[in-house]
Amino acid sequence: MRWWDVEAVAVLEHELFADDPWSAEQFWGELAHVPETRWYAVHEDDSGVDGYVGLFAVPPEADVQTIAVAPRSQGRGLGRELLDALVVEAERRGCTQLFLEVRVDNAPAIGLYERAGFERQGRRTNYYGNGIDALVLRRRIGGESS
Ligand SMILES: CC(C)(COP(=O)(O)OP(=O)(O)OC[C@H]1O[C@@H](n2cnc3c(N)ncnc32)[C@H](O)[C@@H]1OP(=O)(O)O)[C@@H](O)C(=O)NCCC(=O)NCCS
Repeated sequence: MRWWDVEAVAVLEHELFADDPWSAEQFWGELAHVPETRWYAVHEDDSGVDGYVGLFAVPPEADVQTIAVAPRSQGRGLGRELLDALVVEAERRGCTQLFLEVRVDNAPAIGLYERAGFERQGRRTNYYGNGIDALVLRRRIGGESS
């Protein structure tokens, strides 16, 4: 993801995370930390950006900051492809554990993560407000992956 992608990413973000989207400014803020502690990538089809993913990495731990696929491209393996690319980058940086938070009611995302080997570690009450909890998921990667 480069600065010229942010506008398209922010449009997708508002479509996919209508309740609490990141603003373009928040993406700018994230990109300001590339490459030190962040890594961001986009995927494009003929119509433009149709997916993006963001990593926060301070070895030995890493977090999935965000991952999203445009409705037109969902269900075709792109989410998994983006997640796999993030794991490769986290391993390249020497991280051995990857964490993320996901809304308890986000079945597609939980499906993606569990399919990719993430395990439930805990639950954060009211993490998203309005009584919506987060599941904390973890996957061992790199030297500690099995
Ligand atoms: C979550 C998201 C990134 C998945 O992207 P995707 O490209 O559709 O996912 P994939 O096609 O790569 O599917 C990978 C796995 O996810 C799971 N999955 C995907 N869509 C699913 C759905 N609607 N219901 C249940 N599981 C689903 C499946 O296990 C699938 O593996 P399989 O096809 O081998 O069974 C996409 O739905 C999205 O952008 N959602 C809105 C944003 C969001 O919620 N991001 C995550 C925030 S934590």
